[in-house]
Amino acid sequence: MESKVPLTVDGKKVEAQAGETILEAARAQGITIPTLCHYSRTTRVGACRVCVVEVEHSRSLVASCCMPVSPGMVISTNTPRVKAAQRLVVELLWASGDHNCLACEQNGACELQDLVYRLGIEKPRFAIDPPGYPIETSNTMLQRDLNKCILCGRCIRACNEIQVNEILDFSCRGSRAKVGPAFGADYIASDCVFCGECADACPVGAITFRQARFAGRPWEIQKVRTTCPYCGVGCQMDLNLHNGTIIKVTGNRAYGQPNGGSLCVKGRFGLDFVHHPDRLQTPLIRKGKGENLREATWEEAYGFIAAKLRAVKEQSGPDHIAGLASARCTNEENYLFQKFMRAVIGTNHVDHCARL
Ligand code: FES
Repeated sequence: MESKVPLTVDGKKVEAQAGETILEAARAQGITIPTLCHYSRTTRVGACRVCVVEVEHSRSLVASCCMPVSPGMVISTNTPRVKAAQRLVVELLWASGDHNCLACEQNGACELQDLVYRLGIEKPRFAIDPPGYPIETSNTMLQRDLNKCILCGRCIRACNEIQVNEILDFSCRGSRAKVGPAFGADYIASDCVFCGECADACPVGAITFRQARFAGRPWEIQKVRTTCPYCGVGCQMDLNLHNGTIIKVTGNRAYGQPNGGSLCVKGRFGLDFVHHPDRLQTPLIRKGKGENLREATWEEAYGFIAAKLRAVKEQSGPDHIAGLASARCTNEENYLFQKFMRAVIGTNHVDHCARL
């Protein structure tokens, strides 16, 4: 039986589940505590200290994302001391990077920008001193601007714990600390497989999807959940549409299984075929050797296929025909295809490639 832990949050007596953190217990009560480094699918690190709260009899403020609840705890999430600490953290982060929202791809979806607004910070008290790193544009999928990085480590944990690619980590120390592949390499020169998990995890505009740059603001994007058309796992993804065009693909976390919001490089970056000008829109037929392909109607194309299949079957028998189905089809479509091959054509020569 799950044991309950009685505690008081902002003067209200509540019960939390044993093992929950203060953050989880507060959120269960509808109380908002800001976070930045916290990423629910990974280990707790308590790095940013933006989630601090006051706990009665505790010598200092505690990071609510890491501190487990204990019986009788008296927690305050909204005192002047808490707000002052949170403001200081956010002001320091703002001052230590190039957080120019005007041209930032993450404008409107940036967690730091949101915190600045919610904490009512007009401008930082400290001189803004971005590190001046060059922007990494050496690949076509991800753009890295370490001047916007807040060193929360979410991308590192996403890379190492969720995708288990182990490409990213911290390097250097103090104000020179930065995140990236080993030896300061670009993504393209590392073993990165471009799953894009790091960009999904980034709370600011430090890692963004290149094909989405200047293609649409976050508030203009319509998300449509769909199933990845590549392998047979059936990952749930969100097509991010701007005026009906897919500008990027993000994992769908809300649906949960089977991928929990993660994607691979094919699902993440392989859907540009949808709007590609070379994509076939109508069937093409070549009737004889040396003839050019010409556009045809679906009726004409199916009639042509049926006549060819019938001719081969009559002349050589059904086992001279084989069918290869596609992993991009649904289970139902592939079922129908094998049924067609077996029941209509009369052969068991049917295969399927799930390894695109
Ligand atoms: Fe708790 Fe960063 S969110 S320390």
